[in-house]
Amino acid sequence: MKTYTNKLKCVFPGVTMSKAKSSRDRRINPAGVTRVTRSSIITTQDSQRTKPADSGLVDDLSLMSVSEQQALLAREGKSYQSPSTKSVLSSASGSSVPREALGTIGRLMKLGRVRNIVVVAGAGISTASGIPDFRTPGTGLYANLAKYDIPYPEAIFNIDYFSDNPHPFFSLAKELYPGHHRPNYVHYFIRMLHQKGLLLRMYTQNIDGLEKLCGIPDDKLVEAHGSFATAACHLCYTPYPAEEAKQAIMNGNVPICTFCAGAVKPNVVFFGEDLPEKYFQHAEDFPKADLLMIMGTSLKIEPFASLINTVKSTVPRLLLNRDAVGPFERRPLRRGDYMELGDLSDSVRKLAEILGWHTEIQDLMNSHENGVCCSYTDPSSSSGENSDSSETDSMH
Ligand code: OAD
Repeated sequence: MKTYTNKLKCVFPGVTMSKAKSSRDRRINPAGVTRVTRSSIITTQDSQRTKPADSGLVDDLSLMSVSEQQALLAREGKSYQSPSTKSVLSSASGSSVPREALGTIGRLMKLGRVRNIVVVAGAGISTASGIPDFRTPGTGLYANLAKYDIPYPEAIFNIDYFSDNPHPFFSLAKELYPGHHRPNYVHYFIRMLHQKGLLLRMYTQNIDGLEKLCGIPDDKLVEAHGSFATAACHLCYTPYPAEEAKQAIMNGNVPICTFCAGAVKPNVVFFGEDLPEKYFQHAEDFPKADLLMIMGTSLKIEPFASLINTVKSTVPRLLLNRDAVGPFERRPLRRGDYMELGDLSDSVRKLAEILGWHTEIQDLMNSHENGVCCSYTDPSSSSGENSDSSETDSMH
């Protein structure tokens, strides 16, 4: 199995990262804190074990989900073309057989076979809230950074580039600071997983704060790429009051560390920086998961992307995304892999309907939005608004 305690490189075509290393080495790493450096390595290989998944759970899934016609076609090695769905899952025979991914996962959940769901999410869950993702051609953030005059798009989140010139990030940060956007149906679906007692943990790459804002409690959430809720010096990591940092940035100033005079930045994890300690919880969580839901991510950034390969080989993985990504690009799919391609809100709504949760989610969304969206305060400057978020009810 892969380990994730190694330092990873930040690799961009045509860009030397030797500076990243030297600068990183300059920085003080507080004693006792293990850190994993985030990188932009593009994953093309799944580190799946080669051993085929063979246990009862996956077999049960096949029995539950494959219509007789599809099963027959699968046995004959032919692939079934559904006229109405873009669901795909790997077949027992190894060929790709489009099947009702959402129906299958929904049924599994309704049968009570799933109790520890890990959700892995990226920017695609927030596009319905009006926040662009990063890599969608044309609309993604990285396609729209010309005004910052940076050498390559990801430089805006590169710690060495920031060290030399923090202004592009600070200009962008004015737009990125949480407070302008509201959670959408997808966020509330994940909160509903929690309320039903099914969410083991959500691992998000997002820095928009919408998971917390919709009421997913802190102990259920790992913000793997950090957040704006706290701030610190980018050189010596001395904490800095988040609200003061925000005010300085909003006023066009660079907040300065009182200890070493380095530039202070919100604790969003940059390329070349280390992931937060909480991220290491994955070592316990992923082996415990009995369902992995992957939503709205291109799975291009390590070490996050490889997390999905650390669930047991028998655990079903559901990808909800506009396009196939990571290990879901290959054919045949891993046994037990499911995907529903298309708009995430539509897919999640369909799954909610299958589960009979749709009205409940809408009610939750309406009541929560009416209660909190207008009174939202930065989590860094308050004790939070999630007073009701630790409540769970049972699905069964
Ligand atoms: P990406 O922009 O790389 O990927 C978003 C994925 O979501 C793409 O596959 C889109 O097709 C898909 N998507 C977008 N909107 C969707 C919708 N409405 N329905 C279905 N799918 C949709 O974003 P991430 O994978 O999150 O780091 O990127 C990972 C990291 O790279 C980010 O955390 C970011 C960036 O560098 C930071 O800078 C903080």
